[in-house]
Amino acid sequence: MHTEAEAHRRDAADPGRRHLFHVPPAEGGRYPEVAYLAGNSLGLPPRATRDELLADLDAWRRLGVEGHLEAERPWLPYHELLTAPAARLVGALPAETVVMNSLTVNLHLLMVSFYRPAGERTRIVIEDSAFPSDSYAVRSQARFHGLDPDATVIRLRPRAGEETLRTADVVDLLAAEGHTVALVLLGGVNYLTGELLDIPAITAAGRAAGAVVGWDLAHAVGNVPLALHDWDVDFAAWCSYKYLNSGPGALAGVFVHQRHLGRADLPRFEGWWSTEAATRFEMTPVSRPPATVEAWQISNPPIFAMGPVRTSLELFDSVGMTALRERSLRLTGWLEQLLDEVVPGRPLTVVTPRDPARRGCQLSVRIGTGSANELTKRLRHEHGVIADAREPDIVRFAPVPLYSTYHDCWRVADALAATVSEVGR
Ligand SMILES: Cc1ncc(COP(=O)(O)O)c(C=O)c1O
Repeated sequence: MHTEAEAHRRDAADPGRRHLFHVPPAEGGRYPEVAYLAGNSLGLPPRATRDELLADLDAWRRLGVEGHLEAERPWLPYHELLTAPAARLVGALPAETVVMNSLTVNLHLLMVSFYRPAGERTRIVIEDSAFPSDSYAVRSQARFHGLDPDATVIRLRPRAGEETLRTADVVDLLAAEGHTVALVLLGGVNYLTGELLDIPAITAAGRAAGAVVGWDLAHAVGNVPLALHDWDVDFAAWCSYKYLNSGPGALAGVFVHQRHLGRADLPRFEGWWSTEAATRFEMTPVSRPPATVEAWQISNPPIFAMGPVRTSLELFDSVGMTALRERSLRLTGWLEQLLDEVVPGRPLTVVTPRDPARRGCQLSVRIGTGSANELTKRLRHEHGVIADAREPDIVRFAPVPLYSTYHDCWRVADALAATVSEVGR
């Protein structure tokens, strides 16, 4: 097996930005800090976040209501500070991007506008392994329109004996059945398998079939480069608590393509933050929505929740997604090499595609015996390795290029070798 010394050599040659983050202390194993591979679930806190958050809190203490206009970062236009960096991260125009609410809430608000079943075009395409919240959301949207969710939702399954979807199969299905499809709503990177779907190809196929195409980018944003505007995506939503390191339950993001902005024919739920900022305080009874995605905002935003997103987006801006993706490819490639040495002879299978172009940083491992929960507990308590279990049999490891190290990956392989017995021994 590759040696620990080699992992250290690689870290010296290809350091990340770990020093900018707080890494939790380990409760087990022989190293002071955990090997944190769960950034696909909840990212680690940037060191800058606490001070920035305290500064926002302090403005409230000093200024009370006047902070809306007089805080160093005035609260009225605060959300605008997040717009340009969020747009850069997903490859969008600023007018197409806004940070607000939570992910599933945003998916619902977008479906109010973009899931418009009519005639025979009523169906919604999702992955069979979609995150449950997305399944519940689309089924409840079908019911909201008086439709039977079982007949309305098409669930894409891999071919028998395969773990992940093939783009060609999705494209063929859309060509064959697209005339019945109102909405395609897929995860850019699948939460379970780590598969990165071909977003431009599937978007093109869905739109050619006359459907609206939206993406849940919870596992893609901050993980892989995105070009939502150029890919002609209709809408997208993402959370900020995974790769964007903005804290548990952090505010989420929304993209609506420019071609839909300012459309008077689209239904939308509105509140006072949906009306144009210049006349908001005229307190008129009828809204005047701007021709930007801000028309989908409803309430005034939670400033203390916006601070951590702002700090995180500034960090992404300063490093750049291209550089991050390059380090990510090296780091995940190294983890894959190490797993290739540990997996043979053990009841373990890597289910994530081997082609780096078809995945982000996460590698998902299926375990043949025992439970995923039990294994992750042992990895944590005996080795200080934090991974993420999806019962019954998937353990996910995500080396995050901002703060994970080659040594973290080595610790994963070392811990798996010690924890999962070879078959027949
Ligand atoms: C792919 C995906 N969609 C939706 C959700 C639910 O997000 P929220 O609870 O922020 O609405 C998650 C949460 O992890 C997710 O991974």
